[in-house]
Amino acid sequence: MNNNYEILKIKNIIINTQTIKTFVFDWEMKREIPKPGQFMMVWNFNGGGDEKPMSISKIDLDNEEISITVKNVGEFTNNLHFLKIGDKLGIRGPYGNNFKLSGDNILAIGGGVGMAPLKSFVEHAKLKNKSVDVVIASITQCELLFEDDFKKLGVNVFTSTDDGSCGYKGFATNRTIDLLKNKTYDMAIVCGPEIMMKGIFNILEDNNINGQYSMERYMKCAIGICGQCCVDNTGWRVCMEGPIFSSEEIKQITEFGNYHRDGAGIKILNNNF
Ligand SMILES: Cc1cc2nc3c(=O)[nH]c(=O)nc-3n(C[C@H](O)[C@H](O)[C@H](O)COP(=O)(O)OP(=O)(O)OC[C@H]3O[C@@H](n4cnc5c(N)ncnc54)[C@H](O)[C@@H]3O)c2cc1C
Ligand code: FES
Repeated sequence: MNNNYEILKIKNIIINTQTIKTFVFDWEMKREIPKPGQFMMVWNFNGGGDEKPMSISKIDLDNEEISITVKNVGEFTNNLHFLKIGDKLGIRGPYGNNFKLSGDNILAIGGGVGMAPLKSFVEHAKLKNKSVDVVIASITQCELLFEDDFKKLGVNVFTSTDDGSCGYKGFATNRTIDLLKNKTYDMAIVCGPEIMMKGIFNILEDNNINGQYSMERYMKCAIGICGQCCVDNTGWRVCMEGPIFSSEEIKQITEFGNYHRDGAGIKILNNNF
């Protein structure tokens, strides 16, 4: 773990959807090779000066590049979306644990920008000649993330949109139930809104499939010191023991799918509570 900032130039910017952009940086792999599922802390000293966690969406060993994929949801991410190629950001990391590959048949299920950490793992699994099916879920067609990238990798893509504008009409949960009627998998990786992940967790448990879930919690230090990202009942720090948790670990995290804490540590109940 390297806690020093690298001040890096934005090498390229890819516009993925109306609200999501990918930022590409040169990254010296000899410094530390990031693993799929890990995240970086991104310091935007150009605007606001804040620092926030972002998953690594691509690890390009050949070109020595990494990418982060950012959805514009608030002040920090909006400021990032205004940046241009050549602008600089402070990047520290990589942090956290990573997805573990096991077996030959893999299912990846992502909602919205939750596809970001899944993408680097799917690319890794394809390099190892694994068979991968991906469920990409979003509210509407224009927000489906990485559909073409996955198709180019030779992955089976199953889209689902809440409004039915592309692929299956419905949620990622319903799409997954349908998929599992005819197929099974050695492992699954999941990232998206926590209420979606909880639904997927129940489905995977019913089908005896081991899942790995990428959790988000409010982060400050990202190095296990401040305690901001601790989860009940285990005290696990999402920045250190996570952000990837296995099915067995998820069972012990009592707040999973129920509530999280804001930057002041105040409990925020999920909508359905
Ligand atoms: C491990 C991890 C990986 C992430 N990966 C990605 C990614 O690949 N792409 C992406 O677009 N987003 C990712 N996020 C979420 C991203 O950090 C927030 O969307 C961002 O911080 C929002 O900041 P804002 O000022 O734009 O919005 P705000 O209006 O401040 O917040 C919008 C939402 O983001 C959450 N958030 C705000 N600050 C933080 C923080 N310091 N730590 C965690 N969550 C915060 C808030 O709780 C709120 O739910 C990740 C979060 C974590 C914890
Ligand atoms: S963000 Fe400080 S302990 Fe995790």
